[in-house]
Amino acid sequence: MKRIAILGSTGSIGQSTLSVVESYPDRFQVATLAAGNNTDAVFEQTVRWKPRVVSVAQEADAAALRTKLRNAGLGEIEVVNGAAGTVRVATHSEVDFVVSAIVGVSGLEATYEAVKAGKSVGLANKECLVVAGELMTAEARRQGKPLLPIDSEHNAVHQCLRGGRMEEVERIWLTASGGPFLKTPKSEFASITVQQALNHPTWKMGKRITIDSATLMNKGFEVIEACRLFHLPPSHVQVIVHPQSTIHSMVEFVDGSILAQFSVTDMRLPILYALTYPERVPSDLRFPVMDLRHLDFCPPDMSKFPCLGLAYEAAQAGGAKTIALNAADEVAVAAFLAEQIGFEEIPRIIADVMAATPAGKLESIKKVLQLDGEARRLAGEMVNQRNRSASPVRAIP
Ligand SMILES: NC(=O)c1ccc[n+]([C@@H]2O[C@H](COP(=O)([O-])OP(=O)(O)OC[C@H]3O[C@@H](n4cnc5c(N)ncnc54)[C@H](OP(=O)(O)O)[C@@H]3O)[C@@H](O)[C@H]2O)c1
Repeated sequence: MKRIAILGSTGSIGQSTLSVVESYPDRFQVATLAAGNNTDAVFEQTVRWKPRVVSVAQEADAAALRTKLRNAGLGEIEVVNGAAGTVRVATHSEVDFVVSAIVGVSGLEATYEAVKAGKSVGLANKECLVVAGELMTAEARRQGKPLLPIDSEHNAVHQCLRGGRMEEVERIWLTASGGPFLKTPKSEFASITVQQALNHPTWKMGKRITIDSATLMNKGFEVIEACRLFHLPPSHVQVIVHPQSTIHSMVEFVDGSILAQFSVTDMRLPILYALTYPERVPSDLRFPVMDLRHLDFCPPDMSKFPCLGLAYEAAQAGGAKTIALNAADEVAVAAFLAEQIGFEEIPRIIADVMAATPAGKLESIKKVLQLDGEARRLAGEMVNQRNRSASPVRAIP
């Protein structure tokens, strides 16, 4: 029986993880849960799964949850809160496997502490690898424990890599849908509206990741994740646009063979893979192979999507530059969503924050969080400057 901690249990990945646990009651057991502010959902999950410990973001919510659980006859469940609470959930002695699915840098410390405590970790959270990949993978190596990717592209690569040895890998091909502006001429980019950018062709996701998909920054983050997870230089990780998103990613070996992974686009599959690795267990998540008609591929247009080039630059420099990239992107995307800056300002702000951030190695998570705060402040100032001088965003007629 594998005892599982879910960081971000009330989110999309968290709920899919609970669905997998529900389907395999003989294999998995929920040991601990951590969530943010969705107190109704976390109460229901706690009653259903009876974890040892549950954490929420706010102290007041924790006190209210404690009372509700006591009234429901579940007073023995420990309720904690905040960053320390999430760390407690991730490092509890009765946890074997941690699913890291808190969005943003809020999940970083707990995930790192889980790795340090020798837990096996399934990583959905992107920021852990983007901003602290070197620290995270070094600690996992020290512990001799795997970091198992749940993000579908890296999960696909992980599966394909089982077909050969790392020294036999020529390159990784990360597939990208291309986002909603794949065919939009660059001349129209200046007038892209929030509504147009949120209209992703294939996926329904949160707002930040949808905008990141429209700028191709999401793929840029995935390049950095791949470099850190699989210990490859950026030149060995190539992005290829594949609008159908059928193939989740590929690995090319030195002899010219290419292994690709495809399956239903359902996050329960990479979660199940990570939870059961190195085993494969039967599931009903079948792909309708007979329905496959055609697969298109083309290279990404780096001049239309400068965020991708910035991510390659950050991947090459490492350390503080990847922190600047992520923090500036988060601030710039929020400003775009609030209609304070135009679509084309997003990469400009990121480039300026990266240029103003000195390169440097990271020796601790504390340092990562400090640099993250500095980059956010800088990006905020740049947004304010542009907001004062910019003309309002225009809609395409
Ligand atoms: N969804 C996907 O298909 C997918 C695929 C690949 C990778 N990912 C990555 O996986 C991560 C999670 O994605 P998601 O789609 O599941 O996000 P989501 O639906 O927005 O859920 C985020 C989770 O994080 C929790 N949370 C937020 N702030 C917190 C804090 N300060 N302390 C504790 N918990 C906090 C939220 O709790 P409350 O809701 O209770 O506030 C929620 O449980 C992201 O990094 C995303 O990029 C997602």
